[in-house]
Amino acid sequence: MQILALSYSKAMGRIFFLGVNTGYVRDETPTAQHIKFHADRSGNGLYCTIVGNVLTPRGHGTNSVCARISRAPEWKTLANEIQNSGAIAGIQLSSTWTEYQGIKEFKNKSPENKLDEYLLVAKKINNNNIKDLFSDLRSASELSIEAGFKHIQLHAAHGYLFNLLLDPFFSSNYELALEEFCRWVEYLKANNIESSIRLSTKIGVAQIDSNDTRLAELMDTPCDYVDLSQGLYNIEKRLIYPTLAEILDARWETNIDTAKRHPNRNFIASGKFRSNNARSRVLPENINIGICRDLIANPNFLGNRSDGCQNKMKCHYFSRNEDSLSCGKWNK
Ligand SMILES: Cc1cc2nc3c(=O)[nH]c(=O)nc-3n(C[C@H](O)[C@H](O)[C@H](O)COP(=O)(O)O)c2cc1C
Repeated sequence: MQILALSYSKAMGRIFFLGVNTGYVRDETPTAQHIKFHADRSGNGLYCTIVGNVLTPRGHGTNSVCARISRAPEWKTLANEIQNSGAIAGIQLSSTWTEYQGIKEFKNKSPENKLDEYLLVAKKINNNNIKDLFSDLRSASELSIEAGFKHIQLHAAHGYLFNLLLDPFFSSNYELALEEFCRWVEYLKANNIESSIRLSTKIGVAQIDSNDTRLAELMDTPCDYVDLSQGLYNIEKRLIYPTLAEILDARWETNIDTAKRHPNRNFIASGKFRSNNARSRVLPENINIGICRDLIANPNFLGNRSDGCQNKMKCHYFSRNEDSLSCGKWNK
């Protein structure tokens, strides 16, 4: 496989701190640790911090330590602190469903069963459910705007609920979901709020991944950014948090190919951007950089880009049966 060469040397787009579900939550509300974690990482020229995996008012969590958007004053403090550190305050809104359970292992031993489960959940969602879910998303967005967030991302990746609604492979009511999504984007635009949607371009199932045009319509909506991720949580987590060189290289191949095929669309692309595994190809101008683990490991990573994540894997607290985020580097 061709070695990619991604470097910071070219005039690069904006830099985003991507969603992290920290578990720093009490009663579904961010704790002081959650607020400090994000404030500490929102300087050094970062464009936007996206607070990860926040539940809509009636949404279901991916685990028991998810935050839920509300009128609790901590949300205002969080948005303010991010902004005071220099970045735009962003929030990623998300939901799963009542019986949802995330698997602990990184790679599912029987992925076909999980794929069937996803398809079954999607099949049960009717038009009224879709309207209801987007109305809940609208309420979540109103609360986010009230709290001071200026960028709202819909989490439609990793096999969560909006992924199943907006991916035509899963969704049986895709047209309506797409229409509702565009209405949501227009609502944000009317309120001067930046919008993004996170998608899983590849999901680890060859039959689906070979179709490059699966998500084509979502590339043409009026949304400000498409955030390119990969993987379904219950099938192959290594695609969500790529560490192996071959997975990272393949992810950047897809990121670059997608950006080239949609030159008028702004993207956010991630995958160990500064890593030694990912080198030497010029990025298309419509790619903005998303960073997660390097900034988890070192809040000042953007000030010293050689000092980031060392793949200690401790941050995967759910898979390790822990309640909240930690990093092998912090203990030094
Ligand atoms: C501990 C941890 C928590 C994460 N939580 C979320 C999340 O809440 N929402 C999301 O879309 N992605 C989440 N991700 C994925 C990251 O946003 C990012 O896409 C991924 O780590 C690849 O970027 P990186 O190589 O810069 O770390 C998480 C990643 C890690 C390591």
